[in-house]
Amino acid sequence: MPITVETLLTAATPLIKLALAEDIGPGDATSQSTLDAVAPLHGRVVAKAPGVIAGLPVAEAVFHAVDPALAFTAHVCDGQEVVAGELIAEVKGPGPSLLAAERTALNFLQRMSGIATATRDFVDAVATTRAIILDTRKTLPGYRILDKYAVSMGGAQNHRMALFDMLMVKDNHTDGAGSITAAVTRARAAHPNLPIEVEVRTLAELQEALAIKPPLDRIMLDNMDLETMQQAVRLTAGRVPLEASGNVTLKTVAAIAETGVDFISTGAITHSVIALDLSMKITKPTTAPTLSWEERARRAKAALGDRLVILGHHYQRDEVIQFADFRGDSLQLARDAAQTDAEHIVFCGVYFMAEVAAILAKPGQHVYIPNSAAGCYLADTAERSQVEQAWLDLDAALVGQADAEITPITYVNSDAALKAFCGKHGGSVCTSGNAAKVLIWAFAQRPRVFFFPDQHLGRNTARALGIPGRPAEEILLWTPHRPPSAEAIRRAKVVLWPGACNVHQRFHPSDIAAVRARHPGIRVIVHPECDRSVVELADSAGSTTHIIKEIEGAPAGSAWAVGTETHLVLRLQREHPEQLIVSLAERPPYCSGMGAITLRNLTETLEALARGEFPQQVTVEAETAQWARVALERMLKL
Ligand code: 13P
Ligand code: SF4
Repeated sequence: MPITVETLLTAATPLIKLALAEDIGPGDATSQSTLDAVAPLHGRVVAKAPGVIAGLPVAEAVFHAVDPALAFTAHVCDGQEVVAGELIAEVKGPGPSLLAAERTALNFLQRMSGIATATRDFVDAVATTRAIILDTRKTLPGYRILDKYAVSMGGAQNHRMALFDMLMVKDNHTDGAGSITAAVTRARAAHPNLPIEVEVRTLAELQEALAIKPPLDRIMLDNMDLETMQQAVRLTAGRVPLEASGNVTLKTVAAIAETGVDFISTGAITHSVIALDLSMKITKPTTAPTLSWEERARRAKAALGDRLVILGHHYQRDEVIQFADFRGDSLQLARDAAQTDAEHIVFCGVYFMAEVAAILAKPGQHVYIPNSAAGCYLADTAERSQVEQAWLDLDAALVGQADAEITPITYVNSDAALKAFCGKHGGSVCTSGNAAKVLIWAFAQRPRVFFFPDQHLGRNTARALGIPGRPAEEILLWTPHRPPSAEAIRRAKVVLWPGACNVHQRFHPSDIAAVRARHPGIRVIVHPECDRSVVELADSAGSTTHIIKEIEGAPAGSAWAVGTETHLVLRLQREHPEQLIVSLAERPPYCSGMGAITLRNLTETLEALARGEFPQQVTVEAETAQWARVALERMLKL
């Protein structure tokens, strides 16, 4: 069970008391002597570096513990990724109280956000694999619940909480009891209801652990090298979930995940915390009228009139999407971009979407993105040079006939150069809204498809079209470091690039089981960027527009668990109070690229345009744009 905010606050309350006593003691000598006791101050907590926020309820509790008159407003949620300069929270109230609480509140928030940020780095490093990151008991003494809550906000799962909630037979227990089997027998006899995990050091110990009946709940591969781990995965063949442990670092974690283990535990995320850089800027509340970002955006937009069109993807924040003239999924936005006549197109979405708009723009139209760092994790999983090398390998296996035998299809979430590659080689772009249509078209051209970068959309679409996976092996996952054999390539109808989205990768079959247990009869709807195991268990899968339409068309009283980015799920909740709408995951995932567009950077873009400047213009080199347009137009014609 994930740690609830209630449990978090119960654990944090004595720690807050201790921390405040240590910091304030009998009183804040400076603030009490220099400031008026009741004159209000205004504090703004701002991120000085990008990261993942965790601990907002604890920070709020610190301010309230010092003075219940302090009003705390969070501007982001725990688990949300923020950009440098972003406003995290505001606190208003009596100056001496605000200053007395500031350091302690920030200490909690910075430490917890540091853990969440480090965790997210590990989670992202393995997002193209099926491995799940776990924490350990290497937490700050007394802070177990806080540290583990922060880990879960970073997107990892919590391992056992402590010694009492799971049996874990380690080397010392095995040596003490005489053998793994003897230790397990004794542990199970004493605690038949606790889940049990066993640590193994060698393949011989693994064999012994695998022979135990009933099967163990999990086996830990302790400090094994990569080759032994691979052998362990082959030997286990899915009979018991495997956890890799020992010396896991950000540098090694991806290679460990690629061995095929189910879990990877790491102490580094909690024992070597680097606090996230947050600061609190204090000002006196001003009576002089200042324009809000919202009002400034409204005025700049009005000043630009018909010369401007704003396109917004469904994953954008509400404060941004309210300014979008057109909101849609990536297919709809590509169509909107191709049809508008406005001189300035401001794209509120991730970079590849703005690139598509720039490629489809008419002469004289310019495309801008409010933050050019708004990237897509999935798009970055396929580099042009890697894909070109794969094409050469495919061509060799198909005896120089790649251009006659295999159609390259790129998901729109990709670099412009990959779209151009498809244009040149007779292929097309697809989106999550038309992937099946595009694949059917592709098979009408040539007998095989090379699909990149999203393996999940490719696999889900191919399977829905009746192309078998195992054992027929007509769907082949490409491995760039060790290309498949020519024989495997010739057997394949669909070759998949091994990319994935780090947001949709965070939904698991266990989430579906949990949500169905909590809400019997609930319908599960997911985006096809989710793993096949999730899509198979869901009631429906489709693009963001598909998800919105299904929910809009459902009768009042319907219940939905939605497996996609959190901003959209929260908006659906607000727009459909007549239905029960929950996120499929206990810890709803946010897309950091989409979140990099803020009301502030949108406003600054609009104001710059209104002043006649050209901020953050998105351009694509002419030849790349020409071939990418060929691939995009093939898709738009279908
Ligand atoms: P849609 O095309 O469904 O909007 O998806 C785009 C995307 O990036 C999903 O993660
Ligand atoms: Fe890319 Fe995933 Fe974000 Fe969509 S949700 S923009 S695929 S990272």
